[in-house]
Amino acid sequence: MRVAGTVRIPGDKSITHRALLLAALARGSSHIGGALTSLDARSSARVLRRLGAEVSPLREGSVVVVRGRGRFSRPAEVLDCGNSGTTTRLLLGLLSGHRFSTTLTGDASLRRRPMRRVSAPLAEMGARFTEHRGDGLPLTVRGGVLRPLRYAMPVSSAQIKSSLLLAGLAGGVEVSLLEPHGRSRDHTERLLRAFGYGVTECDGWIGFRPGGRLEPFELQVPGDPSSAAFLVGAAVLAEAGELRIAGVGVNPTRTGFLAVLARMGARIAVEEPTIHFGEPVADLVVGPAGLRATEIYAGEIPGLIDEIPLLAVVASRASGTTAFRQVGELRIKESDRLGLIAANLRAVGTRAEVAGDDLLVTGGDAPPRGVVQTAADHRLAMAFAVLGTLPGARVRLDDLACAAVSYPRFPETLRGIARRAR
Ligand code: S3P
Repeated sequence: MRVAGTVRIPGDKSITHRALLLAALARGSSHIGGALTSLDARSSARVLRRLGAEVSPLREGSVVVVRGRGRFSRPAEVLDCGNSGTTTRLLLGLLSGHRFSTTLTGDASLRRRPMRRVSAPLAEMGARFTEHRGDGLPLTVRGGVLRPLRYAMPVSSAQIKSSLLLAGLAGGVEVSLLEPHGRSRDHTERLLRAFGYGVTECDGWIGFRPGGRLEPFELQVPGDPSSAAFLVGAAVLAEAGELRIAGVGVNPTRTGFLAVLARMGARIAVEEPTIHFGEPVADLVVGPAGLRATEIYAGEIPGLIDEIPLLAVVASRASGTTAFRQVGELRIKESDRLGLIAANLRAVGTRAEVAGDDLLVTGGDAPPRGVVQTAADHRLAMAFAVLGTLPGARVRLDDLACAAVSYPRFPETLRGIARRAR
């Protein structure tokens, strides 16, 4: 395949969720440009409407207008968060500071995902939880008067961290958090700082102090680096050409995959850097390269957690064995990503194995051929669709429609960047 042209990618999913949640909690009208319009973003918009905010329809190319009331109101029904773990976990934090009961549920994948990782520390702060089916959804939260929290998190996770910071915001109490190894994405901290809240960092502890003011705001959401990663991967694996991906968020807590690809020998230039509403943004210019294996250390994992399916696919074309260390968290994403990455790589003819919590992928150059089971996991589907662009590949996915969870027009975009070499 030859790649060519310039593409823009959809808005950042993490920032879109946070912007919608905070706008819904502010009193007055906020305007969010470049917001992601995917199924996950719609899940946030849908539940926020049920909590009393007015949220305009999420349409590509239009600014989302959110009119919040300063507090959420008690919803009349169970809130369905669809496939979105971020919606669920961040909302549990905000609802912990509201004195009414809300029950959250989601699709089959989300109902299986663990929620005690947020409900346990939120309960320490004073919220009460009723589990309906063990550690997962449905889950009822009853908020109350919250106590300050000082908490060493068992895993580095932006969802846990953000949930607890947002509980501090909704409850007006101090929160101090320690992430064990590696820093997870810091979009919540950046947004809270922009609202004038004290967010400090000292000896690894992140501190939140109430006292800012959540005012309505205007925000432009940068392109999602996690979505860009699939196009970067396609361009790195191409036979010829060059691809420019414009307006990508390059927050250093999100760009670990670029550092790994550079170690593997990829040619990626970061051009036209600017800062947009407190977040660094740039164009990525990517061309094909010969690749060698690398080791991805435990401390790097939080900064590239969503890019591991794509990196594993790229590693399957590199010379040598790439080791991803301590990636057990992948077992509890939208699917058991750890098991499915390895099983699907084997299904298309690559040597791949899970050893404890490590993933090992040995590269080769035979055309990938086989049937891939995506378990309706958007990132698995997109990663293996990239593998399907290789010369001679015959990769059949059971489902690519699930890409719409984070990247609404991914199949068309992938086709658009590929100019078949004669
Ligand atoms: C997210 C955090 C990550 C990531 C998810 C989005 C966020 O989860 O996998 O897609 O927006 O906070 P964890 O930080 O919980 O691993």
